[in-house]
Formats: sequence, structure tokens, C-alpha cells
Amino acid sequence: MDVVTSTILASFQAIPYATPVAVGGLFFSMFCVKKFISDQKRRNARLPPEVPGWPVIGNLLQLKEKKPHKTFTKWAEIHGPIYSIRTGSSTVIVLNSTDVAKEAMVTRYSSISTRKLSKALTVLTQDKCMVATSDYDEFHKMVKRYLLANVLGTNAQRRHRCHRDNLIENISSQLHAHVETSPNEAVNFRDYFQSQLFGLALKEALGEDVQSVYVDEFGSTLSREEIFKVLVLDPMEGAIDVDWRDFFPYLKWIPNKSLEKKIQQMDLNRQAVMNALIKEQKKRIDLGQKQNSYLDFLLSEGTLTEKQMSMLIWEIIIETSDTTLVTTEWAMYELAKNSKCQEMLLQEIKNVCGSEKITEEHLSELPYLNAVFHETIRKYNPAPVIPLRYVHEDTELGGYYIPAGSEIAINIYGCNMDKKQWENPEEWKPERFLDGKFDPMDLHKTMAFGAGKRACAGSLQAVLVGCTSIGRLVQEFEWRLKEGEEGNVDTVGLTARKLQPLHVILKPRT
Ligand code: HEM
Repeated sequence: MDVVTSTILASFQAIPYATPVAVGGLFFSMFCVKKFISDQKRRNARLPPEVPGWPVIGNLLQLKEKKPHKTFTKWAEIHGPIYSIRTGSSTVIVLNSTDVAKEAMVTRYSSISTRKLSKALTVLTQDKCMVATSDYDEFHKMVKRYLLANVLGTNAQRRHRCHRDNLIENISSQLHAHVETSPNEAVNFRDYFQSQLFGLALKEALGEDVQSVYVDEFGSTLSREEIFKVLVLDPMEGAIDVDWRDFFPYLKWIPNKSLEKKIQQMDLNRQAVMNALIKEQKKRIDLGQKQNSYLDFLLSEGTLTEKQMSMLIWEIIIETSDTTLVTTEWAMYELAKNSKCQEMLLQEIKNVCGSEKITEEHLSELPYLNAVFHETIRKYNPAPVIPLRYVHEDTELGGYYIPAGSEIAINIYGCNMDKKQWENPEEWKPERFLDGKFDPMDLHKTMAFGAGKRACAGSLQAVLVGCTSIGRLVQEFEWRLKEGEEGNVDTVGLTARKLQPLHVILKPRT
């Protein structure tokens, strides 16, 4: 072998070793350059102002009341529409104006499309196995398509129309029955509305308004109220449980047994009840009795596991049962308090519907009713702070540099209380939507339904059920608050529920 050949051969033989070294070296230098540029960027970048807090815990103590939307809004008056806070070891960028919120949800979405869930939410959502809590990935795109095509999109809503009509008829006749038997006794509006919304959810999700179900794991039969508690009330309460280890991940080895046990039990109960409900419906389907339900569709599609199916069915149940109640209850509170607004709405309905009962077909001709609905979701937003988003690559918001690893809290309540955008934002005033600036048919007059790729999938259903119910209830009854009710404006929970259920005195209109 000559010298040249042996040198070339030696070089070739070295390639398997040399290549990784060379490529590794190249990547290492690229990494150093990238890191240098990124460090330089960080040093030169304008970061959002910080809300002063304590060492180690940051601003946690200032947030201990479970109403962060109000605290965030107060801080926005001092620090501006975008600022950062520290919750233990995490940095959270809080957005409080429509412009920066839209920038995060629309323009910069690709850098902020993942979620960071609390421990409780991770368990309760089976690690993001829901449309609303998943990251923006193929799973999300597929299941959102399923949800819109079968339950919440325009055509699907048309197919579920009879269930909504039924809901309103039932509420109306139950309220008439109450007034007939005890005319002077205040009505707990929530009892009636919540129960009917739950019925709508069960029909859309499972094909039947279930009255009871036998649950193997419990060895007993649960009533409809008990099913509601396990599927809706308990998880809503668990979702806002705070585990201090969420804020200090480096201490995650320290057990927090009582909370862990409570959340895991909620999850097990939910799974057991969902399994029982699905088992009953499978028996129906095996008998050849098809229904227009989400479960019927998912079973026929056959692309999801049993667990995924159960989570997605449960998602509709919990989402249908709560936010629309929150909105309608607050709207009826305001109308019962403001007799002038109630009278204006009644006159509008009389002019358009005459002696007919209001239906969904009338909605486009009732701008004041539309304004009542939108003003209510503006002031009493059922989703005051959007579940935290996670910044997975460096980005910019409101002219500030936002480093990867930050979390984003979009304070929708703050956006809708922004004095620069809304005159006297604390006031409930439907007329603000009637000055010609707003398109009556626009579902997004406020930020209440979010924006961009993750905008609310259920906005159409919420508007149809909310507006038709409000209209029909005012058409049929005169509403007056029970004495002492006016001051009951406190909220509770994940979705700004009225703390005290609304109590009203109803007088049927002649
Ligand atoms: C007045 C009533 C409602 C309000 C104010 C509301 C508000 C919102 C908001 C702000 C978001 C965006 C969350 C984000 O950006 O991360 C959202 C998402 C969502 N909402 Fe609603 N919602 C309402 C009713 C409903 C109803 C009735 C349903 C279903 C039955 C529903 C299902 C969903 C789903 C599935 C998503 C997730 C969409 C996605 O991530 O792609 N919502 N909602």
C-alpha cells in the first residue's frame, strides 16, 4: 500500500469517529453562538415591569385570595397592561389589555401554544386529554374537529336544536308551576336552570338525559344530582385547589398527601361514573338504537382509546353545565335589579315577536337582547383568566422581550375592565353595544370567548341558549330581586359563579 493510499484509508477509517466529533464541535459552536446572542438579547432586551414581591415566594402572598383576576386588574392600574410577577420559582407575564392579549392569542400564538397545568389540573384532565387543555398538536386538531362537527359547530347545533327548545320549555313550565303553588316565595333560579343545562349536556354527549346510574365501583345507584356532583361540582372545586409544590418544582419530592388523595379520588369517582354511563349507552347502541350523540359518533369513528373517549365526553358535560349558567344567572340578576332595562328588553321582544314565543329565529332582530348578553359576559366573564399558557420559545409582547420558559396569564376580566377601552367599565350598561361601533352579530365584541386558534368552541351554543332563555324568561315573567339579594355580587370558583345562587320573586305577565 503506498503512502497516499494508506493516508486516505486512515482518513476514511477515522470518519466514523471524526464525523460525530466534527458535527458535535459544529453544533457546540452553534450552540455557544446562539446562547451568546440570546444572552446578549436578554441583557439588552426590555423586560416587562415587575410587580415587587418577596424573595423566594415572589408575589404568592398577594394572590392568596382565590380571585387573581381582580388583583391583576388592580396591578395593571399601577404597572400598565403588561407586567411580570413571580409565583415561587416561575415567572408569569400578566396581560391586561385587548391589544396585548390578542397579540399573545393570535400573532405570537406559535410561540405560546402549549399549556402548563397545575398538579390538580394535570390529574383532572388526564394530562391534557381535553380540547380545552391540550397543547396545539395533531390530537388537538383532530378532537376539536370532532367536537365542532358533532356538537358545537353551526350544523351540529342545528341538529341539536330540539334539546335547546326542550330546555327552555321545561324551565318556563317549572317556573310557572312554582309561581302557581307559592306565588310569594322567592325562586332559586339556579336550581332550575342548572338542572336543565345538565340535561342538555347529557343529551348532546350521551344521547339521553340520564336519571340514575348503577356504578360498579361504588356498588350503588347514583341519582341525577349525585352524578352532577361527581361530574361537575367536584372537579370544578378541585380545579382551583392550590398545591404549593406547583410553585416550587424543586420541592416536588415533599409529599402533599391529603391534597393528592382528594384530587385522585375525584378523578377515580369521575372515571367510575363515566364508565357506568358509557356502558349503559353501549347497551342501547348494541340494540341498534342510534342517537345523535357525541358518544355514538366517537364509538363509530373508532380512532380513540376508551379513556380518551371518556374524557372528551366528560368535557362537553362539564363545559355545557357551567359557563352558560354563570352568564344567564348574572344577566337575570342585572335585569331583576334594573327594571328600566328589563322594560326596554320586554318592549323590544313585544315589537318583534308580538304574541309569539321568542325563538332562536328572532335573535337576529333583537339587538337589545344581544347587548344584554354581551354586556353580561363582559362584566361577569365566566373565564376571567385563561388557563396559563407556556412560552416555549423566546418571543415579544407589547414591545417587551418575553423569554422562553415564562408563563402567560391572559386576564380577560382585566381586558374587559380597561378604562381606556370601556367607559365606566364597572357599570352594567347594555346600551354601550348599541352605538353603531359594534356589529350585532359579532360573537367577539369583548374578549370573553378568547381569540385566535383557541377561541371558544362553544360560543354559538352559549349565545343561543343564553339569549333565548333570557328573552323567554323576561317575556313570561316580571323579575324582581328578593330583598337583600342586591348586595350578593361575590363570585366563587374557576368560572366566576355567583357565590350566592340568585333568588328572585317572579310575577307571570298577563
Ligand atoms: C358564556 C359562555 C362561555 C365563555 C365566556 C367561554 C369562554 C372561553 C374562553 C375564553 C376560551 C379560550 C381559552 C383559551 O384561549 O385557552 C374557551 C375555550 C373553549 N370553550 Fe368556551 N366559553 C363559554 C361556553 C362554552 C361552552 C358552552 C362550551 C361547550 C359546550 C365551551 C367549550 C369550549 C372549548 C372546547 C374550548 C377550547 C377551544 C380550544 O382550545 O381550541 N365553551 N371558552
